[in-house]
Amino acid sequence: MKIAVYPGSFDPITNGHMDIIKRASRIFDKLIVAVVRNPNKVATFTVAERVELIKKAVKDLPNVEVDHFEGLLVDFMRKKNARVIIKGLRAVSDFEYEFQMALMNRKLDPNIETLFMMTSYKYSYLSSSVVKEIGRLGGCIGELVPEVVLPDIQKKLINS
Ligand code: PNS
Repeated sequence: MKIAVYPGSFDPITNGHMDIIKRASRIFDKLIVAVVRNPNKVATFTVAERVELIKKAVKDLPNVEVDHFEGLLVDFMRKKNARVIIKGLRAVSDFEYEFQMALMNRKLDPNIETLFMMTSYKYSYLSSSVVKEIGRLGGCIGELVPEVVLPDIQKKLINS
């Protein structure tokens, strides 16, 4: 069984993430969307909230699982019996950071491969940070996040 992990902060999930999730889930038998618990990064949504939002958004994708992890991604991968890390690339500006992480993860575990997927052009401008800024300032985020979780995200951002 080919299992891939799509790791990230997902603070919160966007339509750019959903595009990668849908496309990667067609390639692998199982895709695990893994929310990182990073004690060094201040997040807007709690890990539990982020997991819940993603679960709602992927409910129609039967081979997609949602989980969270703390610590090294390669350790989580081994625990899940997964060998492929999925990362989305939006622009050249993403490349250097992703390149470093991919090489470092391969050094930590040579059995693990990172697979990059180019985001669809219509989401190339999209990030969780932009969604948060627009949402907090009362702008329309309707086309930026999955419809099913739009009210939850709007409510949280207006109150944060
Ligand atoms: O959505 P993000 O914040 O760009 O995701 C970054 C993430 C979660 C992929 C990265 O921070 C990560 O893998 N963290 C786990 C800790 C780890 O394994 N660090 C070494 C990576 S080289």
